[in-house]
Amino acid sequence: MKFNSISKNTNKFFRNLRYTLYIKYFLANRKKIFDTKDLAQLDNPLTELMNKFYSDKGDSNNTHNYTKLYDALFSPIKERQLNFFEVGLGSIDENVAFHMKYSNKKYIPLASLRAWREYFHNSEIFGADIDPKIIQNFDRVKTFQVDMMNKTSILNMWSKIQKKMDIIIDDGFHSFEANTIFFENSFENLNSAGYYIIEDIHRKPKNIKKFYNYFKKIKVQFQIIDLPHKNNIHDNCVILIKKY
Ligand SMILES: C[S@@+](CC[C@H](N)C(=O)[O-])C[C@H]1O[C@@H](n2cnc3c(N)ncnc32)[C@H](O)[C@@H]1O
Repeated sequence: MKFNSISKNTNKFFRNLRYTLYIKYFLANRKKIFDTKDLAQLDNPLTELMNKFYSDKGDSNNTHNYTKLYDALFSPIKERQLNFFEVGLGSIDENVAFHMKYSNKKYIPLASLRAWREYFHNSEIFGADIDPKIIQNFDRVKTFQVDMMNKTSILNMWSKIQKKMDIIIDDGFHSFEANTIFFENSFENLNSAGYYIIEDIHRKPKNIKKFYNYFKKIKVQFQIIDLPHKNNIHDNCVILIKKY
């Protein structure tokens, strides 16, 4: 029993080391959009808001800590009147891919959008999800149904929104195919100097290389941001793209 647990931890340690070194190798000598030395402390106002609504972007279920990046990146602009958009709103239907049903008993759909609404308190907050049951509008918040695997569905959504965004976050279907289809049909709806972020990038070298080659080829300014996390060696990693 004890031997099994030691062997499991050793495997985990070496897998994490392999992932980390591979990403570091790819990050070396690339121009940075954001210096990870400037990450915020986890204890920050955005973590508090994400935890208040039980989104997993803070530390409420101890698998991600994206609020360290987001608070550092967004606190200088959070008072502005921005257009903010997130795909992936937190369905609690267990038949829907990447649902949040078992994330936290208290989780309610649109958790992160509710937190963003309070954080960017002068901004318009937009969101979209494949699950029609969770689509709703309230003060400064408008949401739409979309299938991020389907180009027509995405273009149709943007034609309804009719606004360009300052920030777009992809926390929907986590796969290379879904992320790139959504990116290709949404990036023109981002304002210049805007940020586009894809969450939960799997840190496996094969996956990192695929994303790296894709963004390098289309010549956008991008950065793979790998955030250490003691409970999650798999996907506490984002791609940050800045539009110039
Ligand atoms: C991880 S949850 C989002 C959590 C939420 N952003 C939060 O932090 O509270 C992922 C969401 O992606 C949605 N999703 C799955 N497949 C999708 C697709 N093809 N198009 C759009 N959304 C999809 C699911 O319905 C689910 O709500």
